[in-house]
Amino acid sequence: MIRQSTIDQIFSAAAVEEVVGDYVKLKRSGSGMGGLCPFHNEKTPSFKVSPNLGIYKCFGCGRGGNVIDFVMEIEKMNYPEALRHLASKYHIEIEEDQANKEELSEQVKLREGLYAALEFARNYFYKNLHDDEEGRTVGYSYFKERGLTDQTIESFGLGYGKNSWEAFHKVATEAGYAEDVLEKAGLIKERNRTEEEADVSYYDVYRERVMFPIHNVGGKVVGFGGRQLRSDKKSPKYINSPENEVYHKSSVLYGLYQAKKAIRTQETVYLVEGYLDVLMLAQSGIENVVATSGTALTPDQVKLVKRFSENVTMLFDGDSAGIKAAMRGVDLLLEGGLNVKIVVFPEGEDPDSYCRKLGGTGLTEFIEAEQKDFVRFKTEILLKEKGDDSVGLSETAREVVETIVKIPDPLKRNAFIKQTANILQFDEALLMAEAKRIKNAATKAFNRQASARDQATFIEPVPTLTPDLTQEAHNKEQAILESLILYCDESYDEEIDVAGFIFSELEEDAYVFEDPEFAECIEQAKEYYTFNDSLDESFFTKHRVLGKMAADVLSVKYKLSPVWLETHEIYVTPDSENYLQVVIDNLNYLKLYKISQVYAKEMKKLQEAETEEDSKIAQARVFKILEIRKTITAKLGIEGAIPE
Ligand code: CTP
Ligand code: MN
Repeated sequence: MIRQSTIDQIFSAAAVEEVVGDYVKLKRSGSGMGGLCPFHNEKTPSFKVSPNLGIYKCFGCGRGGNVIDFVMEIEKMNYPEALRHLASKYHIEIEEDQANKEELSEQVKLREGLYAALEFARNYFYKNLHDDEEGRTVGYSYFKERGLTDQTIESFGLGYGKNSWEAFHKVATEAGYAEDVLEKAGLIKERNRTEEEADVSYYDVYRERVMFPIHNVGGKVVGFGGRQLRSDKKSPKYINSPENEVYHKSSVLYGLYQAKKAIRTQETVYLVEGYLDVLMLAQSGIENVVATSGTALTPDQVKLVKRFSENVTMLFDGDSAGIKAAMRGVDLLLEGGLNVKIVVFPEGEDPDSYCRKLGGTGLTEFIEAEQKDFVRFKTEILLKEKGDDSVGLSETAREVVETIVKIPDPLKRNAFIKQTANILQFDEALLMAEAKRIKNAATKAFNRQASARDQATFIEPVPTLTPDLTQEAHNKEQAILESLILYCDESYDEEIDVAGFIFSELEEDAYVFEDPEFAECIEQAKEYYTFNDSLDESFFTKHRVLGKMAADVLSVKYKLSPVWLETHEIYVTPDSENYLQVVIDNLNYLKLYKISQVYAKEMKKLQEAETEEDSKIAQARVFKILEIRKTITAKLGIEGAIPE
C-alpha cells in the first residue's frame, strides 16, 4: 500500500489547475477557473476548478472530486495507478508499506512489470539508433532518408532493433527483466525446441527493424510497431505488439500523447492510417494528428478522440483499398456524435508522401480545399459505384440516410437530410419518411433483441445499495457527512466546534452508520479529529471516498457556480448564517429515521403480544417512542407531517 505520507506529498505537489490544465483549457472564472468539461459534450463551459480547495466540479454532468479522482476518471486508472501517475509526473518517490506490498494485486504487479520492460526496451532501441554502429548506418539513415529530423525522432522516441537473434534478450535479462514479462510484452519469443533440449530459450522479435513506440494517452509506452527495412523478406512489413494487460489495441491511438495539446487548441483532429503519416505531418507543423495504425477504427477509439475534440477529419490514401472500411469508420464517428470531414488523397499518394511534396502549409491548404463532409463524400462514391440513373440515385439516397440516422443529434440529422435531398435532387419529405422508417426498424430490432436477451438470461434486479441498507438511511447519513464537510471547523458553541458536536451526538445515540462505506469514513474522520483536535475541509477534499462528495458540496458553498440546487436534491444549504440549524436538523432527521425503525419493531411486538402483561409492556414502549418522536418532529417543525 502506498504510504499516507506519499499521498500527502502528491496532494501538495499536484495543483489541481495544473493537472486539469493538461486536458482542459482553463480560464479565470469567478473565484476559481472554468472550461469545457472533458467528460461530456458541451458548448458552454460548466466545468469549474477551485485551486484553493483543490477540487473540480462539472455542473453539467455532475462529475467532481479531487486531483486524484480527476486522473482516475480521465485516464481510466484505479486509485493506486492514479497516485503513481501523479507521483511520476511530479518526481515524487513512492513509499510503500512493506507489510502490504505482498497484498498488491498480481494484476497491478504484472502491469507495472510490463510498463517497466517496455520502457526499458524503448530506451534500448532509441540508444541503438545513436550509439550503435549498425543502428546508425541502417536505422538512423533510414529515418533520414524518409526525411525525419532528429527532433521528430526524439519526440516520438523512434529506435532500432538490431539484426541479431539475441542482442535485446541479452541486455534485458542482464538488466533483470524476467523472460515471461518480456515475452508477454511481445519483445522476445520462445524458440521451438527439439526433444533433447530441456531448457526454454528465447529469441528477439524485432530484428533489423525501425521501431515506433506506441504510447497511451498518459505517455507510457504500451507497445511497438516495428517496420522491416528489406522488402524482399517474407516477414510482415510491420510487427506490432500483442495485446496484453497494458496494451489494448482497440483503445489506443498512435500519436495521441504527442498530439493532445494541439488537438485541443486546434479543436480538430486529423485521423490517418500509418505511423509515418503521423510523423511527417507532425514534423511539418500539423501536430493534431493521430493514427489507427492499420486497424479499422473502433468505438473505443472514437470515445478516446471525443475526449479531446468533437471534430475529426479523416485523411485517406488515394489508393486506399479499404474505402469501404473507411466508410464504416465514418459511421462510427457519426454515431459517437462527432463532426466528420473526409479528405481523399490523389492516386498513389498518402499523407506522408503528399506532405513531403507540398510541405506543411501546402498540405494544410490542400486539406482545407479538398475536405468534404460525409454526405458529399458518400454520395460521390456511391453514385460512381451505382450510377446516376433513378435506381442508382435512390439506392444512394437510402445508404446515405442509413448513415444519417446514426447521428444522435436530431437537428443535425435534419440538416443532413436536407443537404442530401439537395445534392441528389430528391424530395426532402420522402427522405425524411425514409429516415423515420429506418430508425423505427432499428429500434424495433433492438427491442426484439433486448427482449430475447431478457428471456434467455434471468436478470437479477440491480441492488441499489448493500442488501440491508435502505436508501433512506443512505440519504440521511450522507446529509450528516455533508454538514460535517461544510461546517466541521465552524464553532457550535464556545467550547466545541461542529465536528465535535456531531461526533458527540452520534456517540450519545450510539448511532452506527448503516452504509458500510460511510461508516468507515466517519470513523476515519473521528480518528483524525481525536488525534488533531480539529478537522478541516482539506481532510475531506483529499479523502479517497469523500473527495467527490466534498467537491459537490464545497463547490456550491463557495459558489463556483451560479446555478445550484435546481437540479440537485441537497439537504444542506450554503447559507452560513443558518449552518447550526442545518447541522441540528440533519441530526434530527437521522434520529427520526432511527426512531421510526424502532417504532415499527415495537408495533409489531404489540400486535403479536400473547399475554396481557406483554401487551402492556409493549404499549408503554410504543408510547415512549411516540413521545420522543414528537419532540424530534417539534424540533424540526414538522409536527403534523408524519401520521401517528
Ligand atoms: N500496418 C501494419 N501491418 C502491416 C502493414 C501496415 O500494422 N503489415 C499498419 C501500420 O501501422 C502502418 C499502417 O498500417 O503504419 C499503414 O500501412 P502502410 O501505408 O503500408 O505503411 P506506412 O506506415 O505508410 O509505411 P511506408 O510509408 O513506409 O510504406
Ligand atoms: Mn506510407
